[in-house]
Amino acid sequence: MFPSDGSQDFSRNYSGSMGTLTYIRNFLKDRQVASITPTSRFTIERVCRHIDFSRDLRIIEFGPADGVFTKVILEKLTPASQIIAIETNSDFARLLRQHRDERLTVVNRSAEDVREIASNKNWDRADYVISGIPFSFLNKDVKHRILQDVSKLLGDDGLFLGYQTSSHLRSHLRKYFPEVETEMEYMNIPPMCVYRAGKQTG
Ligand SMILES: C[S@@+](CC[C@H](N)C(=O)[O-])C[C@H]1O[C@@H](n2cnc3c(N)ncnc32)[C@H](O)[C@@H]1O
Repeated sequence: MFPSDGSQDFSRNYSGSMGTLTYIRNFLKDRQVASITPTSRFTIERVCRHIDFSRDLRIIEFGPADGVFTKVILEKLTPASQIIAIETNSDFARLLRQHRDERLTVVNRSAEDVREIASNKNWDRADYVISGIPFSFLNKDVKHRILQDVSKLLGDDGLFLGYQTSSHLRSHLRKYFPEVETEMEYMNIPPMCVYRAGKQTG
């Protein structure tokens, strides 16, 4: 799956497509895309380290774009697991729908609607929420509403796993999760702050 020579090709995503061109095109049309390069495989693996893929899981992904992260998660998930990918950009949502996998549901809406979207799938709980949306672009009320909804959806052992270019989300997450940890991934353009937030301490 990774280049065997250990080289870093940040412009190529897991599917082998030229993800950067798609990102640049959508970035120019839609400010919420917030990035001109897909997340690096180093960041993806750093986030995935926190996920117990041995269990059947329900995962919600915010801001999948063309699925650079989603495809890796699908490779690791059990056959009975499910993932809901919520993406505001319709071009990205269309691209992601081309990845046919019955475990994947793509919803072209905002993370602000996460509770209704989960409820439409008859989910009252999720195991993980993975988020790449640019929280710093959201106003305070929207940011808090999303984090509150995520905290309600996650069970006691559920985790919010986020990746952002800044560590600004830490203080906001602490309002809803007693345990919040951050780590930096420098093998990413730009370097990425990875968040892990949960309800259980220790
Ligand atoms: C920085 S990109 C991350 C894309 C991809 N997950 C990756 O790792 O490269 C952020 C993505 O979030 C989407 N997005 C922004 N605001 C959103 C929201 N409120 N709800 C859902 N998706 C959103 C953007 O359209 C974009 O695809």
